[in-house]
Amino acid sequence: MSRLQHLLKLMCSVLILAELIRGNNDDMEVLIELKKFLQAHNQINRGAYDGWLESEASPCNWQGVGCDADGRVSSLDLSSSRIFGPIFGNFSSLTGLDRLDLSANSITGELPDDLNRCVGLKQLNLSHNLICGALNISSLTSLKTLDVSQNRFEGGISMSFPATCDKLTTLNISSNNLRGSITGLFDNCSSLRYVDLSLNRFAGQVSQGMDGLVQFNAAENDLTGNISLSMFPEGCKLQFLDLSGNHLFGNLPNSIANCSGLTYLSLWGNGFDGKIPPGIGTIPGLEKLILGSNNFSREMPLELMNCTALNYLDISGNNFGGEVQGLFGKLTSLTNLKLHSNKYTDGIVSSGILRLPKLTMLDLSLNWFTGELPTEVSSMKSIKYLVLAQNNFYGEIPPAYGQLVQLQVLDLSYNNLSGGVPADIGNLSSLLVLMLAGNQLSGEIPREIGNCTSLLWLNLAGNKLSGQIPPEIAGIGSNPTPTFVRNQKDAVQLEIGTKKCLSVMRWIPIGYPGFNYVDSEMSLKDCRDLEDRILKGYGIVTPPYVQPCIILGYVRFSRNLLSGHIPPMISAMRNFHLLLLDDNLLSGVLPSEICQMPLVALNVSRNVISGVIPFEIGRMILLETLDLSFNNFSSGLPPSLNQLFKLNKFNVSYNPLLSGNVPSTGQLSTFDEQSFLGDPILSLRFADYGPHSESNEDELSSEGTEDHPAKEETMVSVIAFIVFFFATIVIREYHNLMYVYLGYKTQMCQYEDLWRYVTLELCNQVKKLRK
Ligand SMILES: *[C@@H]1O[C@H](CO)[C@@H](O)[C@H](O)[C@H]1NC(C)=O
Ligand SMILES: *[C@@H]1O[C@H](CO)[C@@H](O)[C@H](O)[C@H]1NC(C)=O
Ligand SMILES: *[C@@H]1O[C@H](CO)[C@@H](O)[C@H](O)[C@H]1NC(C)=O
Ligand SMILES: *[C@@H]1O[C@H](CO)[C@@H](O)[C@H](O)[C@H]1NC(C)=O
Ligand SMILES: *[C@@H]1O[C@H](CO)[C@@H](O)[C@H](O)[C@H]1NC(C)=O
Ligand SMILES: *[C@@H]1O[C@H](CO)[C@@H](O)[C@H](O)[C@H]1NC(C)=O
Ligand SMILES: *[C@@H]1O[C@H](CO)[C@@H](O)[C@H](O)[C@H]1NC(C)=O
Ligand SMILES: *[C@@H]1O[C@H](CO)[C@@H](O)[C@H](O)[C@H]1NC(C)=O
Ligand SMILES: *[C@@H]1O[C@H](CO)[C@@H](O)[C@H](O)[C@H]1NC(C)=O
Ligand SMILES: *[C@@H]1O[C@H](CO)[C@@H](O)[C@H](O)[C@H]1NC(C)=O
Ligand SMILES: *[C@@H]1O[C@H](CO)[C@@H](O)[C@H](O)[C@H]1NC(C)=O
Ligand SMILES: *[C@@H]1O[C@H](CO)[C@@H](O)[C@H](O)[C@H]1NC(C)=O
Repeated sequence: MSRLQHLLKLMCSVLILAELIRGNNDDMEVLIELKKFLQAHNQINRGAYDGWLESEASPCNWQGVGCDADGRVSSLDLSSSRIFGPIFGNFSSLTGLDRLDLSANSITGELPDDLNRCVGLKQLNLSHNLICGALNISSLTSLKTLDVSQNRFEGGISMSFPATCDKLTTLNISSNNLRGSITGLFDNCSSLRYVDLSLNRFAGQVSQGMDGLVQFNAAENDLTGNISLSMFPEGCKLQFLDLSGNHLFGNLPNSIANCSGLTYLSLWGNGFDGKIPPGIGTIPGLEKLILGSNNFSREMPLELMNCTALNYLDISGNNFGGEVQGLFGKLTSLTNLKLHSNKYTDGIVSSGILRLPKLTMLDLSLNWFTGELPTEVSSMKSIKYLVLAQNNFYGEIPPAYGQLVQLQVLDLSYNNLSGGVPADIGNLSSLLVLMLAGNQLSGEIPREIGNCTSLLWLNLAGNKLSGQIPPEIAGIGSNPTPTFVRNQKDAVQLEIGTKKCLSVMRWIPIGYPGFNYVDSEMSLKDCRDLEDRILKGYGIVTPPYVQPCIILGYVRFSRNLLSGHIPPMISAMRNFHLLLLDDNLLSGVLPSEICQMPLVALNVSRNVISGVIPFEIGRMILLETLDLSFNNFSSGLPPSLNQLFKLNKFNVSYNPLLSGNVPSTGQLSTFDEQSFLGDPILSLRFADYGPHSESNEDELSSEGTEDHPAKEETMVSVIAFIVFFFATIVIREYHNLMYVYLGYKTQMCQYEDLWRYVTLELCNQVKKLRK
């Protein structure tokens, strides 16, 4: 008996073992299949899977692979593995798999049905990919965590939402194109704690059933209706609630007080009205309260004074008039106060907001304030961002503002300020942004401004400034690094964004290269990110939008009465990419030194500049916009201009003394008559592609050299260029590595362009040699 039992036991365990080994081997087979699939779709860049060794007995030690106690593959982490192409279609064969992470790759195409058969999955992360089509995971009823954020999923969710979601705790479907109604969708999801639906097109109402929720983010959708009392029941656990950018209306119910753990509440950009509920004052840990762009009534509940942790308050865009409410001056923890886009007329000083001890950011722009600028500002020791633009302040800029040594942004643009720019501005060594455009400022630009070594964004356009551009200007922006480094270390997000990017729109001149997308849809988040990037020195143009080029500083003195020469010293301004000096009285020649600036845009139109267009402009290989119109330039167009392969706006109109030919080939030939209006002795040959066009070009490029360079000479330069070429590759690769390492491209831009320049030049040299 016992023998038989023993034998049976043995057979049993052998069977189990065999089954285990078989299962394990099957898993290994599937993973090898997966590896081959990924290798086939990713010929160049590969992730850790490339190192999975088939010779090993078990896949359990492969990078990204995890096994359970029985040796079955239970988790697979292929995040950030540079995967490009469709999703592997056989994950369901890994029957022991409960965790799959494919996030942060470039996976394309639709979800295969196969994934919906991975019924054992508890965690699925597909975020940050390019997956499109429907999100059908209706069979994944064991899911606890689902993150498909930052993809291109579209269509409704109600149809395919996990039918039984009672195990789901985390759901992140943010940043897709999902639509359909969410009314009642989560009613049966009793385990749900973290929900992020933001940046989709969901409709319907914010329903009940949020009992257990800790985080709920439905920002920037199309939700409607009001918020019912029962949304915040007794024992509400919400810590984070973001309903911004929807079409919600009605009162915010006082039952919000039930959510005593709330730290973040944003209702920005809805149609809420009525009183701000006093119950908010009983939430002790509330840090951020964002009620901007609504229709709340002016009376503030005094209970808010008990919000001792409140550091961020946005009550912009609520049609508030009269005096600034005194309550704000009593919120002593405030660091950020945004009251812009209202109709306030007074009360800046009497409300006490200028005495808030921790205030770093104050935005009072777009109101009806009048009178002189408050000198009390100068005693605000922690203020960094002061935005008083677009009001009706008049009088002089108080020199005492020069005491705000922490100041990084001073935006006083579009007021009625007069008098001079105070020399004390030169004391502001942390200043990054100085916006004084659209006032009545007169006198000279003070030389001391050159002491603002962080200043990279300078707009003085549309004033009555006169005199010369001081040569000391070359000192601005010469060393912004200390300020950027401080901001990068600052863990607190600066969070000065608004959906319409109002301040950024003022900071960035119209036509800023690569920045046309501002006018189009820009989410609140994009906007916050953008301002954050600017103040941390990461540039404004992020790689997905345009070229991987960090565009930094600009100087705009347009529409003033500046006269004299453009100082050659500005060549030292290596952190500036836009120089806009149009519509002044500048005279003399355009200094060739200007070409040492890494300019993307140069506009000196509507001045009285004379002399030749410097040949060296052709070296500004980043140049996209060149406007020399309405001046007195003479002589021909330097042939070097044809090397400006990025140039897309070019205007030399109304320079009556310009002569010579417009080349019929190369970059300059891509511009039509509009670029050359009113240049009577300049000959245009637009439609001329005849055989003599070649000789035209030679005529133009004959400058300096003999008719034809000796072949050997060209040979030497070709060899030199080949050496240079490989040197550039080395630099480029080094910088790519640095990029990966740092996560952003600091000086990458120059090298990218150097690279393109060198390849272009090499082609030219080879062409010459062929001739
Ligand atoms: C999935 O993998 C298993 C095991 O390697 C294999 O038998 C099966 O044919 C595969 N199915 C598909 C559709 O590739
Ligand atoms: C999903 O992956 C992304 C990127 O790898 C990560 O940031 C995120 O936290 C993950 N989501 C969850 C819910 O763990
Ligand atoms: C989702 O997938 C399941 C099985 O894969 C299928 O039965 C169902 O019809 C699909 N639902 C939708 C809305 O496509
Ligand atoms: C959801 O995903 C987005 C983008 O990946 C991320 O920014 C956000 O923090 C996530 N939300 C939650 C609640 O984790
Ligand atoms: C929730 O569950 C109840 C009972 O199980 C069911 O009748 C109802 O249809 C479910 N609601 C949703 C939205 O799935
Ligand atoms: C919500 O709207 C309904 C009808 O539209 C109204 O009866 C109710 O009072 C509103 N509730 C709140 C809290 O505004
Ligand atoms: C808490 O919620 C209950 C149920 O909705 C409600 O009756 C009560 O008034 C709420 N408490 C507060 C302080 O609003
Ligand atoms: C804001 O509320 C007032 C009354 O309190 C009303 O007259 C006005 O139409 C509302 N504005 C919007 C945009 O809802
Ligand atoms: C603030 O809280 C204290 C203690 O909880 C309370 O006595 C006081 O009335 C509150 N103040 C206001 C203005 O609500
Ligand atoms: C600016 O600095 C100069 C020289 O250090 C000093 O004389 C002046 O008082 C300062 N201005 C202000 C407003 O602090
Ligand atoms: C600008 O200020 C001056 C006084 O400095 C005043 O006379 C003038 O009316 C103001 N202009 C506007 C448009 O408010
Ligand atoms: C500021 O600039 C002025 C004029 O350019 C110069 O004389 C002075 O030394 C500078 N001050 C400081 C503190 O750098």
